[in-house]
Amino acid sequence: MSEHFRVEGGARLVGTVDVVGAKNSVLKLMAAALLAEGTTTLTNCPEILDVPLMADVLRDLGCAVEVDGATVTITTPAELNHEATSPSVGKLRASVCVLGPLVGRCKRAVVALPGGDAIGQRPLDMHQSGLRQLGASSTIEHGNVVAEADELRGAQIWLDFPSMGATENILMAAVLASGTTVIDNAAREPEISDLCTMLTQMGAKIEGAGTSTLTVHGVDRLEPTEHRVIGDRIVGATWGFAAAITRGDITVRGVDPHHLDLVLEKLRMAGADVSLVEDGFRVVMDERPKAVDFVTLPYPGFATDLQPFAIAMAAVADGTSMITENLFESRFRFIEEMVRMGADARTDGHHAVVRGLERLSAAPVWASDIRAGVGLVLGGLCADGVTDVWDVFHIDRGYPQFVENMQRLGANIQRVAEQA
Ligand code: EPU
Repeated sequence: MSEHFRVEGGARLVGTVDVVGAKNSVLKLMAAALLAEGTTTLTNCPEILDVPLMADVLRDLGCAVEVDGATVTITTPAELNHEATSPSVGKLRASVCVLGPLVGRCKRAVVALPGGDAIGQRPLDMHQSGLRQLGASSTIEHGNVVAEADELRGAQIWLDFPSMGATENILMAAVLASGTTVIDNAAREPEISDLCTMLTQMGAKIEGAGTSTLTVHGVDRLEPTEHRVIGDRIVGATWGFAAAITRGDITVRGVDPHHLDLVLEKLRMAGADVSLVEDGFRVVMDERPKAVDFVTLPYPGFATDLQPFAIAMAAVADGTSMITENLFESRFRFIEEMVRMGADARTDGHHAVVRGLERLSAAPVWASDIRAGVGLVLGGLCADGVTDVWDVFHIDRGYPQFVENMQRLGANIQRVAEQA
């Protein structure tokens, strides 16, 4: 039995939505708990499928993990198992983030190559090269990343690209290395800053959080801590786009609006009235959105995770938009589904040209990843008729209470369980 969402177009979304902790933060913070023996508590965690999956990965390593609503408690033993090769590992990308902590704590790690979204190539060369520079060997053997070190020593590391995952793994290995590590061209996403905050609370010595140069002075041991996960800027921005696309009025709470400065500016350029409110922002749109161009780049650029929503907005905007995808080549697969809904969009390499139409036309469509799934629901909200979005388990991996929040804002959307 597979589930799908049935979306009826035409509603204007109005109301307030509360956003909880970020998927792309909590999963890394759970991995960071491996670095300290004892009990680490994370609050404001999102109730999404990926959290229990990551809990299973940590359990296989010897941790006791309790997921109780928005609170995740992880008790890490003195001796960890260093092999993360169970089927759970293959189900989510963030499982690769146990690599750095395992090498830091156990001096060896065997981690199954991770799964996650089908959005294009996701090599681990920078993760491996960073660990090698810290003194570990790293190879791919029988579908696993294998890393081993007698001792981890601080090093100067330049990343070819500010990769989130590579920054996180190198950082989490470096906190327990001897001496000083400098990671240059590090990722600057707010989720990396959140990880630095938690590691610092645990006793790590990190300078430059939120900048592209992270300096880490290794320490002998870390202590467990309690930490509140930062609000999910990608989910927050999703609701901003939902307001712009449905000519609605949505107040988003629980997100730092400064994590979305560029996004909110783009929504203003599209004609929305955007204001900051306590603990969030409000997007009001009274007219058809105007066409706006988007280029995806690492933070503080426009996030690749928001690209499907930019395309959904462009599909109903007044004018022609050019969208450039610089991170994940397969993310434009989403456009094929939008074209089923009548969108006038075509791609050439990593550029897409979208000519806006007044309305889309409802059709059965298939989600290929979390954000593509949500983008299709947004498309369905401005289509004539009823759109069935299939493979919605992707959406459940990253959006807590998605259907319920949509319904509260006035969307005509139902979760339906039946055969495709
Ligand atoms: N890359 C390499 N070599 C590496 C690592 C990355 O070439 O060793 C390349 C990738 O192929 C990609 C670019 O560097 O072109 C950026 O990848 P990055 O490592 O930053 O991505 P990630 O850590 O695998 C996280 C998020 C993604 C998000 C990207 C970019 C998690 C679990 N995933 O992935 O989120 O799109 O950063 O911001 O944190 C999502 O939430 O829907 C999602 C896919």
